[in-house]
Amino acid sequence: MRAIAIFPEEKSIKLIEHEAPHITSPTQVKLRMLEVGVCGTDKEICTFKFGAPPPDYNYLVMGHEAVGEVVEVGAGVQTLKPGDLVVPTVRRPCHDPSCRACAVARQDFCYTGAYTEYGIKAQHGYMTEFVVDDEQYMHLVPQELRGVAVLTEPLTIAEKALLQVWAMQQRLPWQMPDAPADQPGKGLKAVVLGAGPISLLGSMALIVAGFDTYVYSRSVPPHPKAELAEAIGATYISSQTTPVAAMVKQVGNIDLVYEGLGGSALPFEVMNYLGRNAIFAFTGVPAFTTSTQTTDRLMSRLVGMNQVVFGTVNAGNDAFAAAIRDLSVFTQRWPDVVQSLISKRVPMENAPDALLGKYGGIKTVVTISG
Ligand SMILES: NC(=O)c1ccc[n+]([C@@H]2O[C@H](COP(=O)([O-])OP(=O)(O)OC[C@H]3O[C@@H](n4cnc5c(N)ncnc54)[C@H](OP(=O)(O)O)[C@@H]3O)[C@@H](O)[C@H]2O)c1
Ligand SMILES: [Zn+2]
Ligand SMILES: [Zn+2]
Repeated sequence: MRAIAIFPEEKSIKLIEHEAPHITSPTQVKLRMLEVGVCGTDKEICTFKFGAPPPDYNYLVMGHEAVGEVVEVGAGVQTLKPGDLVVPTVRRPCHDPSCRACAVARQDFCYTGAYTEYGIKAQHGYMTEFVVDDEQYMHLVPQELRGVAVLTEPLTIAEKALLQVWAMQQRLPWQMPDAPADQPGKGLKAVVLGAGPISLLGSMALIVAGFDTYVYSRSVPPHPKAELAEAIGATYISSQTTPVAAMVKQVGNIDLVYEGLGGSALPFEVMNYLGRNAIFAFTGVPAFTTSTQTTDRLMSRLVGMNQVVFGTVNAGNDAFAAAIRDLSVFTQRWPDVVQSLISKRVPMENAPDALLGKYGGIKTVVTISG
């Protein structure tokens, strides 16, 4: 059967003949591939910067954003039947028994980095006529979505980000009851950086979730990307004509930044203006440039390793209760150490010296009475 493959060693991209797959286990499904999207990741693989053929192959079949039609199912397949429309996932688990993420089928959070990815890393992709894989990696899609189902995979980037945003914003208990259940972002402002597919699909998800959404990107209107953003109800602002400070003035308090832009310079500039209790979600994978090396590296680690960096100040009743609970644990476990944190106790007369830091040590305490 036909397939589109890259040959990293000879640095070529070709239409090739690739062996047709067959069902070899009862839980497998055979798909006739219908459509495969092309994204920045594919373009980068085609510059041979990354992307790895499966072991024993000198080529990699491309494609990870796909939709296919089920044409055959193994005897043990429960949820799919021929004729069904499906979107297959991209990442497959590592086989390291210590990987808690892959052990529970959350290879999107894989600890080892030894996962494989269709059309990207050590697994042939979907730009071919037929694919066989396990039922557990297929998502059934309603037939009426036939024309757009190929956008599912790129939309999952925003969906995963939003799921994490809501999990993290549980720390703000007032938001949840205030907003309608299907519009948890109502009353909140989101700035989307970039206006490519990742950002525009993300903007749609944010608007549906109720956010007042601003798209901040390079192209200067009139431009199809700006028109698309406005058509879904976002406000488009061009970074070419409106500097970051002016954009922030227009938006007001920013509750969420959803970055889908790629470079690190603009996102980090915008981060300076993030509002109180806000979240900044990075999805872009920047190419390293000399002038922004530090932030490029930081951003690609944040994204590629699912990291969360957060700030926190002051404490609520829950934290006070936890502190009292833990203090009693500390005094049982390390009685002397906890006591020695208080390196000096002084009477009130010596408080000025204590306040001026004259006693050194770890912690000086002023005894008021008793
Ligand atoms: N985290 C993940 O799992 C994941 C998955 C897929 C992709 N990605 C990453 O997500 C990013 C976006 O992907 P995409 O396919 O949507 O990319 P894209 O089509 O290249 O879109 C990038 C957008 O950002 C804008 N932009 C780029 N540099 C800019 C700058 N310096 N100032 C202002 N705007 C700028 C571009 O504006 P113009 O159109 O005006 O040029 C464009 O609208 C990429 O870095 C990609 O690698 C991540
Ligand atoms: Zn992609
Ligand atoms: Zn893993």
